[in-house]
Amino acid sequence: MVHPTNPLAKGSAPNAIFDLMKKPCVVVTGGAGYIGSHTVVELSLAGFHPVILDNFSNSNRSALDGIERIIGSRPESMQVDCRSHQELSAAFDSIAEQHTISGVIHFAAFKAVGESTKLPLKYYDNNVGSTSTLLQTMAEFDVENLVFSSSCTVYGQPEVIPVDEGAPILEAESPYGYTKQACERIIRDVHASDQPLNAALLRYFNPIGAHPSSHIGELPLGHPNNLIPFLTQATAGLRDPLTVFGDDYPTDDGTCVRDYIHVVDLAKAHVAALQWLDARSLACESFNLGTGHGNSVLEVIHSFQRVNGVDVPHVMGPRREGDITAIYADPAKARSAFGWSCEHSLDDALRDAWNWQLALGT
Ligand code: NAD
Ligand code: UFG
Repeated sequence: MVHPTNPLAKGSAPNAIFDLMKKPCVVVTGGAGYIGSHTVVELSLAGFHPVILDNFSNSNRSALDGIERIIGSRPESMQVDCRSHQELSAAFDSIAEQHTISGVIHFAAFKAVGESTKLPLKYYDNNVGSTSTLLQTMAEFDVENLVFSSSCTVYGQPEVIPVDEGAPILEAESPYGYTKQACERIIRDVHASDQPLNAALLRYFNPIGAHPSSHIGELPLGHPNNLIPFLTQATAGLRDPLTVFGDDYPTDDGTCVRDYIHVVDLAKAHVAALQWLDARSLACESFNLGTGHGNSVLEVIHSFQRVNGVDVPHVMGPRREGDITAIYADPAKARSAFGWSCEHSLDDALRDAWNWQLALGT
């Protein structure tokens, strides 16, 4: 069932409708989620007309309120399960009545690594199923441009860091990781087929932080598994102290190293990727999206304390199964292709993450 909220249906002035129809329309699956909501903001600010398709399985309509507060108008959205060809094609049909769809950004997926080891079929069904259905629907509506949310998890523990896009795709650490490898593979196979497809596979490193306005951010449902949501909730007294998963890794301080990228920088990369696709025909390329710097878990905790003037309650614990020691990006390819690079520091991201937690209420 498709439930549209279409600003064009609300008796907008003719000039407003004309202006809207001139903007390139981008379908954003999973656009109510963490990275999707920030990307919808950046797309709107860059002059695109994003349309969110989301089944709200891991998000809340309050994200639409937050986007509206930032951009000054309600984003167009439809409740759609991207696994359903019927729902997806009905949504594309309804959008195509008013816009030419210039591209799709496909965020919709489940992302909890631990859960994927317990419920692998849930992950294969949703992540692989929605990607396959989306590609089929894009073909039916002659939409060629696709930006896909992939992950640095496809590299496993790379032999050389910083890791570039030429590094081998290794055994994944989890069914979730395999779904990202499988989706990349499906997209490459379709690109090599007769279906015209112009695709950018964006391999995110560790997105953190929130919009500086504190109107949107990460809304983890239940017990957070990722470092920053757990850290902010523990600091707010909502959780037990943060457990640092292992201090005996072969790194400077013994804790794991990751490349933490501000979610607004990540969102802007999607706008740049769409513009890159628009200037191309039938490309299919992968890009690393990270800062190019690695920080250890203890460095993140100490920076968070310094920037926000709060104590982070934490204890040392055993290693978490499946964690790799260290990874950070070589983002040179995205920089030279898109003219994109990160503008925000780790401190910015940690400040915005804490302000978002405070805005949620402690
Ligand atoms: P999120 O859970 O906040 O957002 C995903 C959105 O997709 C949610 O709004 C959810 O309701 C929606 N969704 C899920 N399945 C759907 C379906 N079948 N149909 C329609 N909507 C559906 O996650 P996020 O952190 O914003 O991640 C976005 C994408 O980026 C995902 O593909 C994720 O795997 C990928 N990614 C995330 C990270 C990270 O650390 N957050 C890292 C690498 C890659
Ligand atoms: N960590 C802790 N304590 C916690 C949570 C995490 O010490 O309570 C540590 C982890 O051991 C790791 C670092 O913090 O060293 C980051 O952990 P996250 O769970 O935040 O992120 P990961 O690097 O494990 O994985 C994330 C996403 C995956 C994605 C991957 C690469 O969760 O979806 O980045 O993009 F695949």
